[in-house]
Amino acid sequence: MKKLENLDCTNKRIIVRVDLNVPVFEDKIIDRSRILAILPTINKLIKNKNKVFLVAHFGRPNGEENKKYSIKFLCSELKKILGSEVIHFLDNYEQKIIQTKIFEMNFGEICLLENIRFNAEEEKNDLNFSKLLASSFDIYINDAFSASHRNHASITGITNYLPSYAGLSFSKEIENLDKFLENSNKPNLAIIGGSKVSTKIKVLENLVEMFDSLLIGGAMANTFLLSNNYNVGSSLVENDFIELSKKIQKKAESKNCKILLPTDVVCSKNLEDRTNVKTYSIKNIPNDQMILDVGEQTTKLISDEILKSKSLLWNGPLGAFEYSPFDKSTISVANIIQNFSSKSQLDALAGGGDTLAAIKKAQANDAFKYLSTAGGAFLEWLEGNKSPGFIALRENNF
Ligand code: 3PG
Ligand code: MG
Repeated sequence: MKKLENLDCTNKRIIVRVDLNVPVFEDKIIDRSRILAILPTINKLIKNKNKVFLVAHFGRPNGEENKKYSIKFLCSELKKILGSEVIHFLDNYEQKIIQTKIFEMNFGEICLLENIRFNAEEEKNDLNFSKLLASSFDIYINDAFSASHRNHASITGITNYLPSYAGLSFSKEIENLDKFLENSNKPNLAIIGGSKVSTKIKVLENLVEMFDSLLIGGAMANTFLLSNNYNVGSSLVENDFIELSKKIQKKAESKNCKILLPTDVVCSKNLEDRTNVKTYSIKNIPNDQMILDVGEQTTKLISDEILKSKSLLWNGPLGAFEYSPFDKSTISVANIIQNFSSKSQLDALAGGGDTLAAIKKAQANDAFKYLSTAGGAFLEWLEGNKSPGFIALRENNF
């Protein structure tokens, strides 16, 4: 794999894939880790007087233009963080428009392109789209490790048409994840939560082979509870994954991996009702209640498991952490890890946009050996699946 750290490039037109899918709550960015992560790459490129185009996605607009998912608001963020006077912006991927902008720009300036997922071709990995995009540039850099598990036009397709390099953050992510894998002491524990059930549930099948204990929280736990015949009221569940949940639990048993599911849960009628909040045993969740966090009994269970572990991996908040009081267990677990890792040899690693936001909310950053900006991509990397984005860079032979 060619790396930006070994590249001398000046006065070039460079297209950089970054991950600016930052967690936003009530119109505010709640964690800037993904923006901060790409600064070394951007700074190197502008210092060397290149014209830099940033390509990013935000949310899942399903291939259609949708104002709600525009990333124009990130221009002022980038301006502030980079201390630059101008950040150009283009809401259009047409070749002619990009080339006019390149002509207008000074060397050493940056242009942010609108959410690439407004183009249906992106997620289809349409090679004509990749080729057209590539045609205005000299070099492609992937600095979006956290999105590189997606086989998309701006991640993989484009490497067919340009000399392609791993950005500084991309290389750092891989080095740190590999280091953790090499040094992971047993007994080890994985805590997996969050809301992207369909991406992560398949990964669990492999994690049960690697971990002594696996704690499942967040929306994923609901599907597991349902698969064990508990009534989960009006909670979010993925009926299509009930059979897989059963299969994972069976496999865990045969691999001696202890699966821990919530024993009590914090519920309300819905996310908006944050006053009539009650904790229930999973044995008697009323039909009109929605699970929005794990309860104190479950937090204690997690705490006991952490105390027994030598290494720990965490991805995904345990509840709807953006909304107080449903952040309680996630904050508590971050604090437990913090207390324990300062006194012991616990190696803790965490990753994911929301997970980093939650850890920041708990002010527990110091407790972790490494914080990855990647969530799904990081889990897939740990289970040994080299991501499509990585493979594309490795195989690039320009
Ligand atoms: C993430 O937030 O994990 C990455 O930005 C990838 O986003 P996606 O799951 O929508 O592909
Ligand atoms: Mg995310």
